Amino acid sequence: PCNVVVLISGSGSNLQALIDSLDENSPVRIRAVVSNRADAFGLQRAQAAGIDTHVVQHKGFADREAFDAALIEIIDTYQPQLVVLAGFMRILSAGFARHYQGRLLNIHPSLLPKYKGLDTHRRALDAGDQEHGCSVHFVTEELDGGPVAIQACLRIEPNESIDKLTDRVHAAEHIIYPLAVRWFAEGRLRLADQGAMLDDTLLPASGHL
Ligand code: GAR
Repeated sequence: PCNVVVLISGSGSNLQALIDSLDENSPVRIRAVVSNRADAFGLQRAQAAGIDTHVVQHKGFADREAFDAALIEIIDTYQPQLVVLAGFMRILSAGFARHYQGRLLNIHPSLLPKYKGLDTHRRALDAGDQEHGCSVHFVTEELDGGPVAIQACLRIEPNESIDKLTDRVHAAEHIIYPLAVRWFAEGRLRLADQGAMLDDTLLPASGHL
């Protein structure tokens, strides 16, 4: 099986979707969940599923590199084939991205390359966009910049509230993230020199086939 370590900071609803997508025949094994916050609700979700949990708080480390080194040390005790960022809200160093090159996925709540960074739903609404969504991408040294593996694209409804849009994007995340992780575990999704590939097809920058 494909050993996976999941990094979280908060609610962990994407972690839950991943857990719920697994059964004994699944090629994915979530070996551990690591949070940078002790109060992340996702830790309780992991414990309820019998998954090892760890907390690594950034205070107490001299700098980002020292924090990332501590993270890597814990993650690598599980020898994961894949590391999954699921609402992990700390920027990781270039060294971290390089260490897990090709085996580090993130989910971001926008149609990348649009709206990297924070506050994506508000920015999409303020811009008057007709479409919004979420993206699963390989993590590279560039923040929210790595090759996209899959996106869900939603039509923004007239006068849609930010709460409703946020909920709908979340629901879409819970569909596409388990799918991308499964593809990776099956050896179908990989990072190649030219970008993300699904089977033998190079995915375009948008992640739409
Ligand atoms: C998700 O919407 C994810 O896309 C976003 O945080 C949320 C975590 O929710 N990630 C980022 O903004 C990364 N910059 P969850 O804890 O319920 O899975």
